Amino acid sequence: MDTAEFRRRGKEMVDYIADYLESIEQRQVYPDVQPGYLRSLIPEEAPEQPDSYEDVVRDIERVIMPGVTHWHSPYFYAYYSTGNSYPSLLADMLSAAIGCVGFSWAASPACTELETVMLDWLGKMLNLPEDFLAGTAGQGGGVIQGTASEATIVALLAARSRTVRQIQAQSPEHTEMDIISKLVAYSSDQAHSSVEKAGLIAGVRMRKVATDEKFAVRGETFSVMLEEDKRKGLIPFYFCATLGTTPSCAFDCLTELGPICNAEKIWMHIDAAYAGSAFICPEFRPLLNGVEFADSFNFNPHKWLLVHFDCSAMWVRRRSDIIRAFKTDALYLNHDHQDSGLITDYRHWQIPMGSRFRSLKLWFVFRLYGLKGLQAHIRKHVLLAKEFERRVREDQRFEISADVVLGLVCFRLKGSNELNETLLKRINSARKIHLVPCQLAGRFVLRFAVCARSTESHHVQEAWAHIAEIASELMQDLQH
Ligand SMILES: Cc1ncc(COP(=O)(O)O)c(C=O)c1O
Repeated sequence: MDTAEFRRRGKEMVDYIADYLESIEQRQVYPDVQPGYLRSLIPEEAPEQPDSYEDVVRDIERVIMPGVTHWHSPYFYAYYSTGNSYPSLLADMLSAAIGCVGFSWAASPACTELETVMLDWLGKMLNLPEDFLAGTAGQGGGVIQGTASEATIVALLAARSRTVRQIQAQSPEHTEMDIISKLVAYSSDQAHSSVEKAGLIAGVRMRKVATDEKFAVRGETFSVMLEEDKRKGLIPFYFCATLGTTPSCAFDCLTELGPICNAEKIWMHIDAAYAGSAFICPEFRPLLNGVEFADSFNFNPHKWLLVHFDCSAMWVRRRSDIIRAFKTDALYLNHDHQDSGLITDYRHWQIPMGSRFRSLKLWFVFRLYGLKGLQAHIRKHVLLAKEFERRVREDQRFEISADVVLGLVCFRLKGSNELNETLLKRINSARKIHLVPCQLAGRFVLRFAVCARSTESHHVQEAWAHIAEIASELMQDLQH
């Protein structure tokens, strides 16, 4: 493909994408295919001679689209939202074209510097404590990780390394292995599975703290567990608090947990993967109170801030904590400014050496929506969730299973788990909308998460009417 053809095909592709997104609700939200469907549709091997572009494009509808779950359909209410917007798409095109690998300032100065400044912009939108911002002389700062899962593991490894250093400074006779074998990390029993995985990767004990009736970790429960573990000779070193848990969007009580972590020298990481975007709205910012006690904080603009996957924003209070855990030396990566204190080399902040020019997505989206536009997007989703909640509450057959704080509604039919499992199966088999379940206090619960940028009130009403009708059919079938 030469430049002239790229110009032509690029414009056609933009048209295809715009058409896809504008007419997405006409597509079935969840595909009908069976596992292995794709292999039979394409050759066993890559072509020896080039295919034509027309052939490739034709195969998008023939091979790919039949197996796509349309996450940006207004009938998609599963998991949590994932970001999508035209400014973000355009920025991603530019990022792909520049195609640099951002591992050090010298590898592409704009890539590093825009990332640092965008994370400061975003930190200010969230009203994060000053300590977390890089500014020109701060000790903290932000980095874009690929996912919240990576941020959790990065924070855990940094905490492990800091704890080992602190203990060895006082008791040099303890080996690193000795110390690591006694470490214990904690998270809510509602925490995302990636937190448990982080413990497995880091090779440390991981304990789940029981939550209260609102599915939140409270200080007292945590304290009791810490005392128990310390009596056994274990060393508590890391607590991953969740703001906006995956099952029900519950919020751990940071203002109780933070002081305990600080007093015990436990690294407090906050995973706000989904809910974090809402904190740009002053009315939701109190949910972040207690962040002043944290060592690190993370959320995914790629979930709810109109930015495409992948873009997970992470801040640390002391960047030296993270850099000391990951710093390695290689002559070919060195450059003249690395010790100037003026810049940061992001290869020391993350698991992969390099990353894409992801901050362009933030820059385009922040500038083209403005804070007001982003706040409007969040508020609209919360209002839609409230509207759905109202519908559920009006129907005596149903119950709400957890407080509706942001864009997620957890609900179920009053009755057995089996009844609700059948309801969900029927809803998803009908293919009109797509939902996933969760378990709350032993109960099978349906989750309705407002996800797509294009979801409007009439979609939510339609979704509710559809659910209510399937529930009626189910009740009728059970009576016969
Ligand atoms: C609370 C929480 N943490 C972590 C994750 C995982 O996010 P990621 O895919 O960015 O690792 C999720 C995903 O929904 C989540 O809800």
